[in-house]
Amino acid sequence: MNIHTYEKTWLAVAMVLIVGFIATITYGAVGPGIAMIDDDGGTIDPDTINDDERFSDPGVTHVGGNEYEAAVVAQAWAYTPSEITVPANSTVTFYVTSRDVTHSYTVAGTNVNTMVVPGQVSEMTVEFDEPGEYGILCNEYCGAYHHTMEGKLNVVPEDEFDLTELSTEAPDEAQLGNQTTINTTVSNDMNYDLETTATLEIGNQTVEQDQTVEQDQTVEQDVTVPAHGSETLEFAVDTTDFGTGDHDWTVTVDGHEGSGTLTVTNATEGGDGDA
Ligand code: CUA
Repeated sequence: MNIHTYEKTWLAVAMVLIVGFIATITYGAVGPGIAMIDDDGGTIDPDTINDDERFSDPGVTHVGGNEYEAAVVAQAWAYTPSEITVPANSTVTFYVTSRDVTHSYTVAGTNVNTMVVPGQVSEMTVEFDEPGEYGILCNEYCGAYHHTMEGKLNVVPEDEFDLTELSTEAPDEAQLGNQTTINTTVSNDMNYDLETTATLEIGNQTVEQDQTVEQDQTVEQDVTVPAHGSETLEFAVDTTDFGTGDHDWTVTVDGHEGSGTLTVTNATEGGDGDA
């Protein structure tokens, strides 16, 4: 059988094109590390997310070295937490799940993009070399406010990063002569113990009574916060030292601050005595 030269040429071109298409599709599927969500990250009952150790208090935790985990819960129409902060030169494994419908977790400008399906935990490991700010958005239509579903990813310089949090709890008011306490809880999400010092400063701002002992005070307490744990410190405040009036206070731990105002009233003003 005689095949015309032109026909041979076009047959060859067609073969090259077919091989090219297959190669392109194959590379697209496996080359850049693109994977379908599977059960790598595990499954989870969307109704028990609040009982899950990882997702009941989602956020960033330190696993060791420069490795971190970020747990995120997607829900119409927000991510919890909405903002993720990790240090540069880190490897972060994201675990994302949904409380309701299918969303996505897409970090704009990167190849981080996964579907978030209720019942499944999507897992992605990403390396962040340089500091930067990225928007996070939802790519799967999830209802009326789908377009408002967004978050933020901050990659900060290593020396600006820490996983210490501070919260304070104190009464707004106390009667003169009573003791009161300012409770300070320091939490530590690094996987090593945090040894630090908590400082309470409390001083007189407005003094209403002549007999007030005017006194600024700074009290320090050393604290060791266990890895992935928290510690609560009590600062005892004797109102006699300060007298009636408004006293601003500030607790400082490792650059984190909590503050408030303690109003000391006269025992007779309060009405029924015991506060
Ligand atoms: Cu969530 Cu779109």
